[in-house]
Amino acid sequence: MWIYLNDRFVTEQDAVVSVFDHGFLYGDGVYETIRSYGSRIFMRDQHLARLRRSGEAIGLTIPIPERQWPALLHEAMTKNEVGQDHNDAYLRITISRGPGGIGLDPALCPTPTVVIMTKPLQPSPPEQYKTGVSLIVAKTRRNLPSALSPQIKATNFLNNILAKREAIAAGAFDSILLNWESQLTECTVSNIFFVRAGRLCTPALTCGLLDGITRDLLLGLARDAQIPVDEGHFGVESLRQADECFLTNTTMEVMPVTRVDGHPVGKGTPGPITRQLHGQFMANRARFLEP
Ligand code: PDD
Repeated sequence: MWIYLNDRFVTEQDAVVSVFDHGFLYGDGVYETIRSYGSRIFMRDQHLARLRRSGEAIGLTIPIPERQWPALLHEAMTKNEVGQDHNDAYLRITISRGPGGIGLDPALCPTPTVVIMTKPLQPSPPEQYKTGVSLIVAKTRRNLPSALSPQIKATNFLNNILAKREAIAAGAFDSILLNWESQLTECTVSNIFFVRAGRLCTPALTCGLLDGITRDLLLGLARDAQIPVDEGHFGVESLRQADECFLTNTTMEVMPVTRVDGHPVGKGTPGPITRQLHGQFMANRARFLEP
């Protein structure tokens, strides 16, 4: 695997970062997970814009100018022979504060570390889309936005990792995290939606969650299909009363959820609106790819 590190492509063995890097010492950095369909990157500019916003939120200037990113991402795919005809790419950009003396002051780190990794995208097993996945409600709460905004896609992922550990221990696919007021927020790497009486519901950004790029796209598709949408504040009981539930993120697209805390959601099978929206997503995908 060829990895872009700071200013050049290096082999996996040479892709090493200092133990003084504040990304390692303090989780001080930001990242994005992006994908391609074939050679065309999905929602490229939206991901790059979110990377810039995450950087701005922590006072970290992304050291690569916006106009250079497309060529760099494509070079990473070409060098690794991914992102070709039927070979979708997974891309991860990580920008950390960089190496510097021990201490919290970002000024200790004059040069951010830039890493681009890419590998073949491993799609979720088709079986999961057919049967749906199970979730639990985690005891771990989502970060309080005024303490650490979930809108910052930070390399400090402990909040999510603790909830993921709970899911693994319970034998579930993933955990739903509640906020400080016991309202639904999101799962560890995805946004959550549910359907109730024909209305598509999803926690509002003010509940404290990442503004997922797939979430936003799905909301647009639902509006196009004239499905009524509620972005609101919901408790766990709304999932118990839901007819359908699904998750969205860049790599999974739309994943049906059929059990929550051991209880079936609706009929316990992927629902019609979930299928319809995933179908619409696939039918419209080309609109959201690079030319
Ligand atoms: N995760 N919520 C969280 C906490 C996430 O980490 C992600 C993305 C999402 C969905 O965002 P998007 O639709 O933009 O992918 C929601 C990626 C896949 C990751 O961390 O690798």
